[in-house]
Amino acid sequence: MIIMNRNTSPLKPLSEEQIIKVVKNTDYNQYPDQERQRFINIYAQAYDLNPSEIEVANGSDEWIQKIIMTLGQNGVMSLNPDFVMYKVYTEQIKPELLTVDCEPDFSFDFAKVVQAIKEQKPSLFLISNPHNPTGIMFKTEELQLLVDTMAEVGGYLVLDECYIDFAEKYERPQGDNIVVLRTLSKVYGMAGLRIGLAIARGETFAKINSINHPYPLNSLSLNLASELFSDKEKLSEYKNYQFESKRQLERALAQVESLITIKPSLANYIFTYGDLAVDMAKYLIEKGFLPRTYDVPILKNAARYSIIKLDDYSILNQAIVEWKEKYRH
Ligand SMILES: Cc1ncc(COP(=O)(O)O)c(C=O)c1O
Repeated sequence: MIIMNRNTSPLKPLSEEQIIKVVKNTDYNQYPDQERQRFINIYAQAYDLNPSEIEVANGSDEWIQKIIMTLGQNGVMSLNPDFVMYKVYTEQIKPELLTVDCEPDFSFDFAKVVQAIKEQKPSLFLISNPHNPTGIMFKTEELQLLVDTMAEVGGYLVLDECYIDFAEKYERPQGDNIVVLRTLSKVYGMAGLRIGLAIARGETFAKINSINHPYPLNSLSLNLASELFSDKEKLSEYKNYQFESKRQLERALAQVESLITIKPSLANYIFTYGDLAVDMAKYLIEKGFLPRTYDVPILKNAARYSIIKLDDYSILNQAIVEWKEKYRH
């Protein structure tokens, strides 16, 4: 099966030589101390961030869980739909995740979101930007409204920027109650190494880090991550491959835009919906592709496709054309 349901990179970013070098040089008989700081410094430099405002964990998944534990005591809210794990981790400690539903076209009415926050006063709001599953990017004003409304009720906003490297530059909202999440699982192709970062300031940073293990990530993952950033040209080529794959995915799906609705996406996946969207997804599953389909009611007519190897587009295009033929009148 060709994986299209995980929003991961179709290729690995490091050469065998690089991996061997890192494994040989990793002092895995010692606890990972300077390895952690080294990677944080490298990441901070790459994104012009303050290293003292960054901490790592096992994927942004672990951050989501820890942030719900440390900031979610008075209720956790998110959009519906959004990243599925917001609900899973919230329900580990709370009876339910509070949600605000999307509109029929999978957009969100921020006036409704603000009203829900004011009524229910959650202490934590989680939002992905670019948004999973739709791939849309929220406006700075919309996000700022969320930050300010959460501040009004004494709460925090998590801005989950898992797919930010596929998006356009945007002006981030401002506020001391914001936690930004990043990951090396997507454009950096290291999902299996579980490298997630949280960025926050002052008291917010102290709170989310209050339940940390002394060594939040293993030395091998940290050193492989540091190695990734050592060759900027290679890394940029690696990213460009995925950006090209995204363009090809857009072209592949555009062939059926008269039959299914396709959301313009700023992530490494494309969201489709409508009466025939799941029918096409099922057809593609028979042909060896694995898109993301859903069993929750709000997404029952939706399917999401993530980028694949460039070499695989010719068979994908062929399968899409075959499916389209079924509906030619
Ligand atoms: C919006 C969003 N946040 C977080 C994650 C989890 O990423 P990680 O691999 O860093 O745990 C995902 C994974 O698909 C995601 O889509």
